[in-house]
Amino acid sequence: MPSTRFLTGITTSGTPHLGNYVGSIRPSVRASLTAGVESYYFLADYHALIKIDEPARIQRSTLEIAASWLAAGLDPERVVFYRQSDVPEIPELTWLLTCVTGKGVLNRAHAYKAAVDKNTATEQDPDMDVTAGLFMYPVLMGADILMFNAHKVPVGRDQIQHIEMARDMANSFNHRYGEHFVPPQAVIEESVATLPGLDGRKMSKSYDNTIPLFATREQLKKLIAGIVTDSRAPGEPKETEGSALYQIYQAFASEEESTALRQAYADGIAWGDAKQVLFERIDREIAPMREAYLDLINHPAKIEAILLAGAVKARQRATPFMTELRHAVGLRKLGDPVQAATQKVAKTALPSFKQYRETDGQFRFKLVDAQGHLLMQSLGFASPKQAGQAIATLQREGSAALPGLMDQLEPLAVDVSTVAAALQQLAAGT
Ligand code: TRP
Repeated sequence: MPSTRFLTGITTSGTPHLGNYVGSIRPSVRASLTAGVESYYFLADYHALIKIDEPARIQRSTLEIAASWLAAGLDPERVVFYRQSDVPEIPELTWLLTCVTGKGVLNRAHAYKAAVDKNTATEQDPDMDVTAGLFMYPVLMGADILMFNAHKVPVGRDQIQHIEMARDMANSFNHRYGEHFVPPQAVIEESVATLPGLDGRKMSKSYDNTIPLFATREQLKKLIAGIVTDSRAPGEPKETEGSALYQIYQAFASEEESTALRQAYADGIAWGDAKQVLFERIDREIAPMREAYLDLINHPAKIEAILLAGAVKARQRATPFMTELRHAVGLRKLGDPVQAATQKVAKTALPSFKQYRETDGQFRFKLVDAQGHLLMQSLGFASPKQAGQAIATLQREGSAALPGLMDQLEPLAVDVSTVAAALQQLAAGT
């Protein structure tokens, strides 16, 4: 069975915090261990340029995020772990997708619209401080996803619109140029609660209420001491409902541990003691990773090598796929047979070969009659070139080529004389 491809990107614009860990890093690392899935994890550093113009911060964030993923147990042997800017096919694909994306669709993207609305509300020029990068954000993200024909993209709710746009791009491209892309699906982790921050609101860099994932033990303790609580005194029963401290605890604790803390709340545990319990519980999970993290951060060359090896793996897929896409849109060698303008007309009247890529990554072709009925279908080829060669042989030799190709074809969908007639018709028509 062809495996399902999962793909997730993280913008390299900050330092990972406990909210990122609970909401994204930990579930993704667990998912990457599932059998039958092929996972792509990447550092979206081109996306970071849209938000940040401090080169040193981008570099530092890339290092910290990569180290966090690895320290949390992501196995670069098992998944494809790479940095977006090491895969030049991604910006190249961005352009092809730009040309099939309606400007009106991008006008409606939430982040861009919010920026424009804010300017309008303050009676500024609507486009003040809005870069074309912000406007194009969804296309770059579409290219990230479609480059690897990911089936599933685990994201937060705020990203659903982007996945829908990527689906639209896939469909528009396929409609114009044939089936090349799989329209991706968003996967929303309902079970992963958003973690509250120090002030009880969602933990987020923009609220400045985060606990860095790899704070030192001392820092962690100090930050936890700053989590908001109510003013109930030691001995007074306390509510777990609405308690940020309790919610954070739950994200790390087992059922039994949570039940025990709930009981302690009812029994009037002092806030200081509850904070100590939380601190020890988090530290128990993070401490072993912290060591690995510090080792990685102190050896950036190690991470660099891992990312470059990941890019090689990513490009094993991206490079041939980009060759196929360039060909599909007409960026072709001038010596290749010109099929141009007449092709569309001929297509309606003649049988035709269609080349496509399966979810297993293999290249296939089929022969359909003028009405689109299947006549013949190939097995998988490792490259589009091999599939193209088999088609060329059939076009050149007609049904005479069939016996020699039988082991590369599925059993014929119709009787051999129908296939032979179609090949004959094709040869006559070209
Ligand atoms: N936009 C995502 C975010 O800010 C990051 C991202 C970039 C991404 N490209 C992606 C996520 C592709 C999933 C798939 O969270």
